[in-house]
Amino acid sequence: MNLTCPSLQIEDTQKVFRYNGNFQLESGEQLSGFQLAYTVYGKFDLEQNNIVWINHALTGDAHVHEWWSGVVGEDKFFDPGKYQIICTNLLGSCYGSTNPLSEDPNTGKPFYYDFPHITTRDMANALELLRQELKIEKINTLVGGSLGGQVALEWAHTLGSKLDHSIIIAANAKATPWIIGFNEAQRMAIQADCTWGEDFPDAGKSGLKAARAIGMLTYRHPDTFQQTQSDSEEKLDNFKVSSYLQYQGNKLSDRFNALSYWVLTKAMDSHDLGRGRGGTEKAIKEIHAKVLAIGIGSDQLFRKEESQYISQYAQQGVYAEITSAYGHDAFLIEYDQLQYILKSFYLINNEQ
Ligand code: COA
Repeated sequence: MNLTCPSLQIEDTQKVFRYNGNFQLESGEQLSGFQLAYTVYGKFDLEQNNIVWINHALTGDAHVHEWWSGVVGEDKFFDPGKYQIICTNLLGSCYGSTNPLSEDPNTGKPFYYDFPHITTRDMANALELLRQELKIEKINTLVGGSLGGQVALEWAHTLGSKLDHSIIIAANAKATPWIIGFNEAQRMAIQADCTWGEDFPDAGKSGLKAARAIGMLTYRHPDTFQQTQSDSEEKLDNFKVSSYLQYQGNKLSDRFNALSYWVLTKAMDSHDLGRGRGGTEKAIKEIHAKVLAIGIGSDQLFRKEESQYISQYAQQGVYAEITSAYGHDAFLIEYDQLQYILKSFYLINNEQ
């Protein structure tokens, strides 16, 4: 498929990596094989050490030039004319990778509720198997925001000297009770759907709609809603923001799956870079790559202090901040600031 981007023809061919071995999970369970959907943009250049690997956030997919168009594309910071850009649909997500709707090879039926608990470390280990399959010896830059940042941090730890730069945006080294609490509230909304527990792909769809509405409140900031969702006329009901949350809830539940959402939020909850490694401080210090941790001043979900913590303990850590009224979602919106921060990071490393 060829998708036309502004003044650039990006060949958008989603590929599939199949791993046929037994994949050991942190929970002690195993997956009897798995698959990952991924895309590759741009040409590999050994001389330039030009591979950039980008992880998507909670409900994203492998088509990074679509959901991060202000950063990936011709004349953008990650230009496929300069870098080879790889983006993989994370394990557990319903956009082409193995997820609860996939067939369980042991039963011949979809996993549904029997899909095992997966962690951000499992997701990183799955990416590592793809890296080995692609025979990539060096990754110049690994980038991720939110859940994608948590997975990137995990993978940065295991990649060691195979990775030069790690860019962790609006993420953390360990899930906080605050984040787990919001995820639990969202899963309670899914559980309250009377179809939840039944074996069909759309089970929990209405619950997912409510979960997304809760999620949107955590991705934004009161100032954003004040600016964009205030009602100009006096009224008693049918407020603008209500219609906004209904709209966003429908939009997500039409494109995403409740079982997959459940699995991915559970992975976020159990995220802990320091698990089995003597704590987060020690684990961050063990990361070999240069680390740029980007926080968002108004982020109410992943607080900027959590990004500062990562930069503080990284051997070669830098912190930068996005100033925005948009809260957590700013990394998907504030492209000018992001590009400025990225340029500055490579400039101080004399690499642009
Ligand atoms: N009633 C109904 N619909 C409304 C509305 C209202 N009061 N106000 C805005 N909308 C609709 C707009 O028509 C528009 O629709 P469209 O997407 O079909 O074009 C949409 O809402 C715009 O949403 P908004 O949030 O205002 O856009 P934005 O530019 O500020 O943000 C995104 C863009 C992609 C970041 C945002 O829409 C989004 O999806 N956020 C969630 C991303 C996410 O998953 N973040 C978590 C990462 S872990």
